[in-house]
Formats: sequence, structure tokens, C-alpha cells
Amino acid sequence: MRVLLTGATGYIGRRLADRFLGETEVELRLFVRNAARVAQISGPRVEVAEGDTFQPNALAAAMANVDVAYYLIHSMGGGGDYAARDRLSAENFREAAITAGVRRIIYLGGLGVRETASEHLRSRLETGEILSAKPKAIQTLWFRAGVIIGSGSASFEIIRNLVQKAPVLITPRWVRTRTEPIAVADVLSYLAAARDVNAEGNVVVDVGAGVTTFAGLLREAARIMGLRRPLLPLPFFTPRMGAYGLVLLTPVPFAIASSLVEGLRSETVKQNENAAGLFPDIKPRSYDRAFREALAEIEARQVLSRWCDADAEAVCERGPQQIEAAVYALRRSVPTGELPPALVFQAACTVGGETGWFRFGFLWKLRGWIDKLCGGPGSARGRRDPVELRAGDAVDFWKAVEVRPPKRILLAAQLRLPGRGWFDFVVEGGQLTVTAYFYPRGLMGRLYWYGSWLFHVLILAEVARGVVARAQRLAGRAAE
Ligand SMILES: NC(=O)c1ccc[n+]([C@@H]2O[C@H](COP(=O)([O-])OP(=O)(O)OC[C@H]3O[C@@H](n4cnc5c(N)ncnc54)[C@H](OP(=O)(O)O)[C@@H]3O)[C@@H](O)[C@H]2O)c1
Repeated sequence: MRVLLTGATGYIGRRLADRFLGETEVELRLFVRNAARVAQISGPRVEVAEGDTFQPNALAAAMANVDVAYYLIHSMGGGGDYAARDRLSAENFREAAITAGVRRIIYLGGLGVRETASEHLRSRLETGEILSAKPKAIQTLWFRAGVIIGSGSASFEIIRNLVQKAPVLITPRWVRTRTEPIAVADVLSYLAAARDVNAEGNVVVDVGAGVTTFAGLLREAARIMGLRRPLLPLPFFTPRMGAYGLVLLTPVPFAIASSLVEGLRSETVKQNENAAGLFPDIKPRSYDRAFREALAEIEARQVLSRWCDADAEAVCERGPQQIEAAVYALRRSVPTGELPPALVFQAACTVGGETGWFRFGFLWKLRGWIDKLCGGPGSARGRRDPVELRAGDAVDFWKAVEVRPPKRILLAAQLRLPGRGWFDFVVEGGQLTVTAYFYPRGLMGRLYWYGSWLFHVLILAEVARGVVARAQRLAGRAAE
């Protein structure tokens, strides 16, 4: 069976691709905007088609000879009128699938009803309606999930951080809204099984593992982590207050925080029992088990994908050619002596996150906070893995756009900046060169560059020295 998978650089899609790698009867075709981002998803039965859903030719080529096509895409995060983009994207996808003779579309959207839906959820519902609008021409299995619990999922990261960091959980009244969480592993089981399940016509499949409330999710999480966290619902709590609270205590930026707080107002519980009817063998695990498994995956460093993996429109970077446009560059080189380049590269891969940036940690943190206050991602999102780095990974307020062992790592800034910035590591000719590039926007951009010049001078030297020192320690450990 040839399966077309979209969204393979995203939270759900990457994990589904990983599942399919183990299924010998699946010929997997990934449809992504940047092939470098899925370099790790490889195997004899995997091929990659590059393009996006707004490119009819690329879409048509990707659909050729496909039996089942997964739609795991959304445009939120790209700013502007994302709902209109999502409508067009879904329409293009459905039409291309029909033309190519695809048998079935499988889509995962959000749980909830239109009457109380947030703007984001309404767009997800619209997408489902568009994909399933021509049942005579193509069948659509439309899955709907609410809160997904798994390592790296936005909901899990928010709950975990809130419960760990706030001694008292001050909440809105709507924290009593009913919700039905589900483990990411179970969502993947449903999605994977859907490719060949025996189903007639279009079916909407709501998935969940038992009804609770948002307050229940927080209380249970506190119990699991062995913490006492009283809940204090306030009558005058506004969505904006909630969003600021999330920005302060959790890794999510303002845009995601406000959409999530808005989403708390609407119930997200199953409206049908089609999941049990179509997939009787899948017994969704409890919230307790899902939460514990997510914690265990973090401890075991097995986080396969994170909520901030997707690029959205903002940083769909294709590689280093873009930095050629940079106007300013500050560079610092440090000799690497006898150190093997692979070891220096390995040390450079570990920068950021909990490991930090060697010295001036407070300056990096301060920069992250200023960015969060301006609506950017800040540095609290850290890294997926403290050691492994792949293209597309977030590293604090950077995004890895090129990871080319043993030579180069290029990070693109996702900060709110009056311009575009990159941080470049090159291991070559017996030295490590670290460069900060900046392409300013207007006068503000130029003022920003000169205003932060001293900061850049200080950190460049420290980062370059720090990486080489870490590589020396790695070499020492290897020699022991
Ligand atoms: N994650 C959850 O907790 C959750 C909960 C309930 C339902 N869902 C649903 O599950 C689906 C997948 O969500 P997710 O969390 O995995 O999303 P995600 O992590 O934000 O990933 C979105 C994916 O869509 C791709 N994409 C966006 N626009 C595209 C376009 N025009 N053409 C091709 N690819 C495009 C992105 O590629 P780039 O990397 O190139 O940007 C990325 O791979 C969504 O429908 C969502 O509503 C998710």
C-alpha cells in the first residue's frame, strides 16, 4: 500500500512516519516543504516529495499511485488569515487526491462543536468539512482529538510546567469545562490502523480516553508528580490574564497561549463512539498512564517530536544560501588543535537548552525574556534532546536549519527582531569558527545591530571557546 503522509515535520506526522517505518507493507511517501528536515526518516520503502499544498503540480506528483493520503497539516502560526489558507489547502488536497484516484483521505482535526468553538477549532472543523465534501469521489476518515498527552506535546508541556512551577494554580472559572484527553500513542494507533480499516463512506471518528475537566487534568498531574497544588478559580479571570500566565510559566509564546486559553471555554468531549466500533482492538490508555509515559520518555531522552517542530510560514528555511544576503557579520575562530572535527561538531550540537551557552547565561536569559515580552518564543522552549540535534529542532529562540556533520550547524533566529539573524558554527581547517550574521530591516535594524554589538562580541568568544573546551572533555572521556 502506498501511503502519502503530509505534516511529517510536525508533532503528529513525524511520529506517524516513525510508526510506518516498522510496517513492511507500507510504501511511504512524505510530502514536505523542506526535505532536509526529514533526512532521519529514511529506509528502503521511504521516498520524499518536496512541495506544499499551494503548489498544484507538486501536489499532483506526490499523489501519483497513492492509495491512502494523510492530511496532518494546519497553517496556524504562519500569521495572517490562516483560516483562509487552510480552506484553500484542504480544497487543493482533496481535488489532487480525487484526480489521482486516491482511495481514502485520513485527517486528524480537533474535538468540539461549532457553536462554542474557538477560532482555531472552527478552522479545524472547516478543514474536515472541505476534505469530506465529495463523498462520492473520495472517502474521508476524519479523526477528532482534544488534548493530546505525549512527550513534547503543547498540552503536556503546559500542564507539566504549570504544575511544577506554580505553588497555587490560579485559574479561570472555565477550568471546570469538560474535556477528554488521549495519549499520543493511541492517536497514532488509530491513525495507523485507519489506512486499511473496513469502513463504508465518510466517517467522523472522535477519540478520547474518558471525560474529566481541565481542573482534573491539573490535579491529576500534580498527584502523579507528587506535588500539592491547590486550585484557585477566580471569577474575574480574563483570557488575556490566562495567556500572560502561560507565557510566564510555560514554554509557549503568546499566540499559542491565547489560542489555548480561548479553547478552554469549549467542551472537547467525544460526540460519537465510532472509534470503539471501527477499532475494537484499540483500548485508549488512561490519562494517568499517558502522563507517566510522557515523563518517562523525557527522562529516557526519547522525545521524537515537539509542538514547536513545525516551521509555519515564518521560518521555512531551505539552507544556508539565505545568509548570503546578510549585511553584518561578527566572527570568532578558535583553534581546535588535535581534536577530531567530529568531536568538535558533537560538542557544538549540545549548545542551548538546559546545557546553556557556557558563560553570560543571565544575558541569554534576559534576551529570551525580552523576546517573550515582545510576543516571540523566548528561550524557555529549550531543546528536544540535550545532545542530538536535527534540522528543524528548536534551540531556545533559534531553529536549526542546517545540521551537516562533521562540519556545520546553522541556526536561524526566531526572535522578534528588526531583521533576520543567524548563528553559524563551522568546523574546518583545524579551527572552529562561530559567526553571527544579521540582515537588518531599515534604520531600526541597524540601530539594533550596533546596540547589541558588545553582547555579540562577548558571547561569540565564549561560545567558541566553550565548544572547544567541551570537545576536549569529550575527547578525555573517550580516552579513559
Ligand atoms: N498536536 C496536538 O496536540 C493536536 C491535538 C488535536 C488535534 N491535532 C491535529 O493534528 C493535526 C496535526 O497537528 P500537529 O500538532 O502535528 O501540527 P504541527 O506540529 O504544527 O505540524 C504541522 C505540519 O503541517 C505542515 N504544513 C503546514 N502547512 C503546510 C502546507 N501548506 N503544505 C505542506 N505542509 C504544510 C508543517 O510543515 P513545516 O514544518 O514545513 O511548517 C508541519 O509539518 C492538525 O490538524 C491538528 O489540528 C493536533
